[in-house]
Amino acid sequence: MSAPRKLYIKTYGCQMNVYDSERMAEALGGQGYVETQTPDDADMILLNTCHIREKAAEKVYSELGRFKALKAANPDLKIGVAGCVAQAEGQEIMRRQPLVDLVVGPQSYHRLPQLEARARAGEKALDTDFPEDDKFETLRHRPKAARGPTAFLTVQEGCDKFCAFCVVPYTRGAEVSRPATRILEEARDLVERGVREITLLGQNVNAYHGSGDGGDWSLARLIRALAEIDGLERIRFTTSHPNDMSDDLIAAHGDCAKLMPYLHLPVQSGSDRILKRMNRSHTAEQYLRLIERIRAARPDILLSGDFIVGFPEETEADFEDTLALIRAVEYGQAYSFKYSTRPGTPAAERPQLDEEVKTDRLYRLQALLTEQQRRIQDSMVGREVSVLFERSGRHEGQMVGKSEYLHAVHVEDAVRGGIEPTGQIARVRIIGSGTNSLSGVLV
Ligand code: 5AD
Ligand code: SF4
Repeated sequence: MSAPRKLYIKTYGCQMNVYDSERMAEALGGQGYVETQTPDDADMILLNTCHIREKAAEKVYSELGRFKALKAANPDLKIGVAGCVAQAEGQEIMRRQPLVDLVVGPQSYHRLPQLEARARAGEKALDTDFPEDDKFETLRHRPKAARGPTAFLTVQEGCDKFCAFCVVPYTRGAEVSRPATRILEEARDLVERGVREITLLGQNVNAYHGSGDGGDWSLARLIRALAEIDGLERIRFTTSHPNDMSDDLIAAHGDCAKLMPYLHLPVQSGSDRILKRMNRSHTAEQYLRLIERIRAARPDILLSGDFIVGFPEETEADFEDTLALIRAVEYGQAYSFKYSTRPGTPAAERPQLDEEVKTDRLYRLQALLTEQQRRIQDSMVGREVSVLFERSGRHEGQMVGKSEYLHAVHVEDAVRGGIEPTGQIARVRIIGSGTNSLSGVLV
């Protein structure tokens, strides 16, 4: 048998891209590819791109330019662009950068083997369709390697919300949910391969409505069914929209022990005027009442959010409303961005704010968020948490894992305490809080 061909995938952007990259590697595994960690010796390079904020396409072109020498040295090297930039600008990429042999949009990864064969035959292969079939379906029944203790599992893709700033509804298409039976099958398979924690992914994961036994399944029902799987210890989900936070999902946070007390629930702004212009279809007050209900169900839940500053027409007063909302919620984790114009979205057509104003607001917003994150992380000291150990630490005998609140926890005496190999869950008492992680000792 000939030596396996080497595949190098570089992943940008969200966790869905991380999951997709794994699936692409599996799809091409069937064509005799194994993954390599460097582009230098690769037979195929795939850039799995993200289009959510500005300059994404320019980054792709400059990255591609760097492969010129590799392609000159190895004319058999095939170069592909996948992900949301491929979806949005695939034709243009092929035209502008002759190095590119293959372009594949996020809904067509199951067609990669055919596309790869066409590229091998010297064709330019492009597929940016939105096919009806489940793109993960063809990957079932593949021999599968052992896995680490945590995994992502995509349950839903696309978005029908059309927030005025966002490209996702255009690049990822309409909301589609995978059938519950398939998801449960994939989850059982992951658990057999060593996975203890599954994070369910979707652009609007809590809008999940999949077909299953006895009709339509909500995300809460899916989570409860997953919780029945022996050996699966932890369930998480991301990313959610406030308007899809249904009663049954809130209840699951209260009574489903395997559902972790962490919720990423982006609000983007605390100003009703801006929320309206963003087309978010809820007010700041409604968001705060929702958070109250979630905390009533699960008082210790750690909340995470996304924020955009400098959205068109945002005044200082609007911005201060966002700061006030943040103070009212107390976030344990957050992601914040300057508004970035995305061609084709409604907000891109509106008068834009000055860059300096955006920079100043982002700075102030992040100062507040960092302070909150610190306070919440520091408040873990003295508490007992449960840690799922994922890897060895840098020190001899040390191991690192995540608490139920998704804080990284370093435990010095882990190996001595019998935490090895990885994948075990143990009670840990937190004794210190560092810059980006906690330290603790086994209980
Ligand atoms: N500009 C800035 N941030 C954006 N996001 C999405 N689109 C834009 C944009 N045009 C942010 C939102 C979203 C997160 C994934 O990315 O906060 O929740
Ligand atoms: Fe984008 Fe809004 Fe959909 Fe989230 S809900 S993916 S921000 S359009």
